[in-house]
Amino acid sequence: MSDLLAHGVLAGLDEIASIGRDAQRGGYSRHVWQSADHELRDWFVERAERLGLAAETDRNGNIWAWWGPPGPNAIVTGSHLDSVPGGGAYDGPLGIVSALDAIARLQATGVTPSRPCAILVFAEEEGSRFGIACLGSRLMTGALDADRARALVDADGVTLADAAAHAGLDPARLGTDRLALDRIGLFIELHVEQGRGLIDLGHPVAVASRVLAHGRWRLTVTGQGNHAGATLMTDRRDPMVAAARAVLAVQQAATMRPDTRATIGRMNIVPGGTNVIPSRVEAWLDARAETDEETRALLGDITTAVDAAVAENGCSVAMVEESWADAVHFDPQLRERFSAALDGVPALPTGAGHDAGVLAASVPSAMLFVRNPTGISHSPEEFASADDCIAGVEALEKLLRTLL
Ligand code: GLV
Ligand code: MN
Ligand code: MN
Repeated sequence: MSDLLAHGVLAGLDEIASIGRDAQRGGYSRHVWQSADHELRDWFVERAERLGLAAETDRNGNIWAWWGPPGPNAIVTGSHLDSVPGGGAYDGPLGIVSALDAIARLQATGVTPSRPCAILVFAEEEGSRFGIACLGSRLMTGALDADRARALVDADGVTLADAAAHAGLDPARLGTDRLALDRIGLFIELHVEQGRGLIDLGHPVAVASRVLAHGRWRLTVTGQGNHAGATLMTDRRDPMVAAARAVLAVQQAATMRPDTRATIGRMNIVPGGTNVIPSRVEAWLDARAETDEETRALLGDITTAVDAAVAENGCSVAMVEESWADAVHFDPQLRERFSAALDGVPALPTGAGHDAGVLAASVPSAMLFVRNPTGISHSPEEFASADDCIAGVEALEKLLRTLL
């Protein structure tokens, strides 16, 4: 019996609990190809190899761990190990430790897979370092152009190409990976739920029905940098004040439309001195809605409102789309089959983006959600109880057993 089976999914979470803790923000900051991410990757490979799985990193930095020979029509399960800045312990890692545990359980009961099977760890799901979420799955499927990806820069000015090379990848080989995609017969991602759906339904586990459309835009608000003491209030073109008004305009635009969401969660103030009126503020907008059309319409409202707010302060604004993801509807037949196999667990939509959502455009994909009793995610308060984590693994094990 492997250690992981002896102690299960909870031991897996416990083993990585000290990796990538963020003393400043609280929670975890685990960003692609930085030290915590390397440590987590090494941990995963070691754990997978202990189960007799063969680990390999693909050309886009995603890790595959094969149970039996790699091959076509494989049942693949996985998620990601990276986090948002100051994130929780479950978003991503729960899917990985559950996959390891589910395979350990199958092995312990003598299952030999009748078709190829693998665990897949996606790179940079959160987009916390290079700005584009689901980077590994977007590169694999071709949803993100490789040249564009190579040119992305992190907060320290390091290009993705250089970071990938530093991590041992060949930047020239980043991009659509047909071979990898062709190996996937079915992808299942288990994930902590990121809202209150399962609390309200009183269930520990659900299958996913759909993902909201969403995108990210960079706003550059430009004004006039100047002296904080020498410049009269009436003489200023302060982009920080304009950006503050833009934040309120974003909030108002999203509140006016039913069930749309818009957030500005990150800003750079340039040059960033207490006694300096900034010359420029960069802000990142995340906007989501039920459909692609509603999200685009929300963006139209936001653009109009932000332009007006910024102009009132004598500043200008440029808005650039950094990423876009269409709304996803998971295959209803697959979802119903899985729900029935799991004694009729409910189906839930999600406002969060996932690699399974990106893959769904190319291969049959499904998701399992595990209840989060706080209803909070992308925060250290994200949680899943021991019993619910085990219920999640049991559900994944059951599906894998049927499929294999
Ligand atoms: C990832 O969790 C996202 O929804 O942005
Ligand atoms: Mn997340
Ligand atoms: Mn996630």
